[in-house]
Amino acid sequence: MSEETAPYGTGPAQQPAPAGGTPARRIRTHHLREMKQRGERFAMLTAYEQYAAQTFDEAGIEVLLVGDSASNNVLGNETSLPITVDELLPMVRAVTRAAKRALVVADLPFGSYQASPEQAYLTAVRFMKEANAHSVKLEGGLAMVPQVRKLVEGGIPVMAHIGFTPQSEHTLGGYRVQGRGDAASQVVAEARALEEAGAFAVVMEMVPGDVAAEVTAAVGIPTIGIGAGNRCDGQVLVWQDAFGLRTGKMARFVKQYADVHGVLLGAARTFADEVRDGSFPGPEHTF
Ligand code: KIV
Repeated sequence: MSEETAPYGTGPAQQPAPAGGTPARRIRTHHLREMKQRGERFAMLTAYEQYAAQTFDEAGIEVLLVGDSASNNVLGNETSLPITVDELLPMVRAVTRAAKRALVVADLPFGSYQASPEQAYLTAVRFMKEANAHSVKLEGGLAMVPQVRKLVEGGIPVMAHIGFTPQSEHTLGGYRVQGRGDAASQVVAEARALEEAGAFAVVMEMVPGDVAAEVTAAVGIPTIGIGAGNRCDGQVLVWQDAFGLRTGKMARFVKQYADVHGVLLGAARTFADEVRDGSFPGPEHTF
């Protein structure tokens, strides 16, 4: 791969160097593919606003997904279905402004791309033009091949998403593992068809580990697992689950790395106590 040069017109291809540091090189889709070829795994997290995006970017997370899971993790809906393009756009804009290095993927909401390749293209263009997304993600297997082809031909990188696809939860009969038994070959066929249509990566959600490993070996594009075992090229989690902002029952595939809810709860209670007893604000906080 040749060295990346600055594009014509405005803006350098690389982000400015932080004081005393090296420039943050933007992760591109080809970097993920090269990582797969070298046998290196990469990490992806959801992000929906500036500070989480900035923190995950600083932590070296390669891919940030502004997921339609914002519907049930930010907007208070029960599922990912109700969120609209207009609701998700400002979140994508905030994340692309904050992330200096990560590849930012905008999820296409339910109903904004399934009707036709043209509908998909027009929706994806909004995320690329109005929110500076670097790529989009859409859910579905063989039925979405024309959509993927149209977007890629139109210059939009596409991440595919197969296995359990939350936007189809009512068709799939709830949160269930996909691709067991005879259905395994279908998952492999879908991944191959999406790669052939031009997808640069494929998310596999709630697929048996052996099937995910078979898909990972069968395709040249990186696979990203969520509930798909550790033989994928990358892994993704919803950050509120992984870092414990959300409480309650978690899916088996979630590992909790922190207790952000506990930290916030403690801090909010201490603040309220200090306001009530008059110890905040102290003289050092007073003009
Ligand atoms: O919207 C989302 O967060 C997702 C991940 C679960 C992959 O699609």
